[in-house]
Amino acid sequence: MTTATPAESALVRACWRKPVPHRPVWFMRQAGRSLPEYRRVRQGLDMLESCRRPELVCEITLQPVRRLGVDAAILFSDIVVPLAAAGIDVDIVAGTGPVVAEPVRGAADVARLSTDPDLSFVAEAVRLIVAELGPTPLIGFAGAPFTLASYLVEGGPSRNHAATKALMYRDPDTWHALCARLADLTVTFLRVQIDAGASVVQLFDSWAGALSEVDYRRYVLPHSARVLGELADSGVPRIHFGVGTGSLLTVMGEAGADVVGVDWRVPLDVAATRVGPRAVQGNLDPCLLLAPWEVAADQVRRVLAEGEAAAGHVFNLGHGVLPQTDPDMLRRVVDLVHATPPPR
Ligand code: CP3
Repeated sequence: MTTATPAESALVRACWRKPVPHRPVWFMRQAGRSLPEYRRVRQGLDMLESCRRPELVCEITLQPVRRLGVDAAILFSDIVVPLAAAGIDVDIVAGTGPVVAEPVRGAADVARLSTDPDLSFVAEAVRLIVAELGPTPLIGFAGAPFTLASYLVEGGPSRNHAATKALMYRDPDTWHALCARLADLTVTFLRVQIDAGASVVQLFDSWAGALSEVDYRRYVLPHSARVLGELADSGVPRIHFGVGTGSLLTVMGEAGADVVGVDWRVPLDVAATRVGPRAVQGNLDPCLLLAPWEVAADQVRRVLAEGEAAAGHVFNLGHGVLPQTDPDMLRRVVDLVHATPPPR
């Protein structure tokens, strides 16, 4: 008798570019404010404090799996959780995002990042979740060095990442020292999740699309490539995602992931020609979930058709679920993706 395992799931198979029983689908930010049950359990609780409570993390992580029938759970956490564990004074402000009390401006600030963060609460949460999930895979994640550095240097969300770029151009030694420290922290955060049972990991370089290809190669690629390289023998597939990265898809593929995430701006058949021998993930515009169902459904079918050009396709949005999304729309997308015959 064979038992189903996460390693045999449609998601993991698609990441490895193996034939699938149906196209796997999950949504970035599937656990969050679009779900009434999420808003209920988070009421009055600080975001980072919530991330430190393993039973609450387990409950929130499982909510979208129960309601939506998605092919994977993604750990409820945040890219700044390891920064806080490494001693950075960071807060997540609702409606804004991460805010850092003392932004990083020079070499002395880099040393403030502890190399030995306590992430035992993450391991505990992952173990609880994996035990509940059974054959459904859990996706672990982390922020990539550039996106983390942007929050640290800007002190908060940024439109053009000017202070971050100014540091990289003015003081490349400090920039590379900062990114090297962040790469170590990212590897540590991802390893904790893999060791505790995560079956896939996603590296979020959400804001890399702000960079030219030449700057990405010079200032970012070596650090993201090291993170992905250090996890090459982990046995779990690695997804690498950014927003507005159409012109960077080839170089982001070179960073070494197994799957490249694509936002809604580039069709997946075009993306597939850019990423090299890798699977793709995406790429429905999250705003389409605010459209009438038939309008959204047409574009779900288009994304599925374009995804057939890739060696493997994980259906997702081009970025996170918007808080005002009706969860019934998410459920209908999952059902439509599952009802569509897989490639070949
Ligand atoms: O369901 C999931 O995708 C898993 C949970 C998850 C969160 N953050 C929870 C969260 C994941 C994968 C992240 C990653 C993250 N955090 C990224 C990369 C992904 C992306 O969106 O590009 C980034 C850039 C962050 C930083 C961050 N944290 C932002 C921009 C925000 C939004 C601020 C807001 O209120 O709109 C957060 C807060 C955050 N992280 C929320 C959630 C559910 C909302 C907080 C709340 O519900 O009060």
